[in-house]
Amino acid sequence: MRERVRVLVISNRKGGAGKTTVSVNLASEFAATGQRVLLIDLDSQGHCAVGLGVKVNVGELTVHDMFTESNWSILDCVRQTSVENVSLLPANTTFQHDRCGHDQQLLLRALSQDAVSEKFDLVIVDTPPSLDNLLLNALCAGTWVLVPYVPHPLSFEGVRQLVRVLFKIISEQNPTLKILGFLPMMVAGNVRQHRDINSQMTRQFGTLRVLGGIRSDIKLAEAFGSAKPVRDYAPKSRGAEDFETLANLLITLMEK
Ligand SMILES: Nc1ncnc2c1ncn2[C@@H]1O[C@H](COP(=O)(O)OP(=O)(O)O)[C@@H](O)[C@H]1O
Ligand SMILES: [Mg+2]
Repeated sequence: MRERVRVLVISNRKGGAGKTTVSVNLASEFAATGQRVLLIDLDSQGHCAVGLGVKVNVGELTVHDMFTESNWSILDCVRQTSVENVSLLPANTTFQHDRCGHDQQLLLRALSQDAVSEKFDLVIVDTPPSLDNLLLNALCAGTWVLVPYVPHPLSFEGVRQLVRVLFKIISEQNPTLKILGFLPMMVAGNVRQHRDINSQMTRQFGTLRVLGGIRSDIKLAEAFGSAKPVRDYAPKSRGAEDFETLANLLITLMEK
């Protein structure tokens, strides 16, 4: 049997923390190094498809059908994106979260197939802000979890709550899940509050776990609007530079 495909889960229970921005742009950065990346959009807002220019028509298969269709198969709903080496398992934008059932291992089982590890080198999972079976499926399937956060006072408490959930999952369901790091998003070095929250995060979680952040850059929002990753939309921008640096760092951390 082949080794199971490696899975990077992007999670924070706050909306607007940068999860989708990180998911789409990291997928593109890893793909540019030659890795075949599958991006899974578990958030029914469906923003990954928007960011990668994929149109999902009514009735087309989505990752959310996993929770409701007994004959759902992962490779049936994989879509090619405009970015080389990035495939997408799109979201169902009309999915109701009360239909996600109680089986927390559905995604893990789907990703454990040899056919998936033959086709992909890395899976990235973008998650919804809710703490429900969608998020639990992602965390049960994960090899690593990366937590983007915007450095303001409410985020710190939110991240602490998430970490409690992560430790519970690690001790009860997925002992091999590792916290890869905490990633400050929309960082403005000259804002005192950002500096204060980041040093609070470092004291709580350790310097090594709090990663160099992604600076605030309107190009990241514009890239999304133009359905491209920032490395294609504005290759010389701060956003593109920061994502390339982050991807290189993560590649090293993921090898450890
Ligand atoms: N570093 C950044 N600089 C500027 N805007 C950003 C940055 N990161 C994210 N954004 C914007 O912030 C908003 C929320 O980000 P998003 O990735 O959608 O968060 P989430 O998926 O956690 O809800 C989006 O409009 C996105 O374009
Ligand atoms: Mg999102």
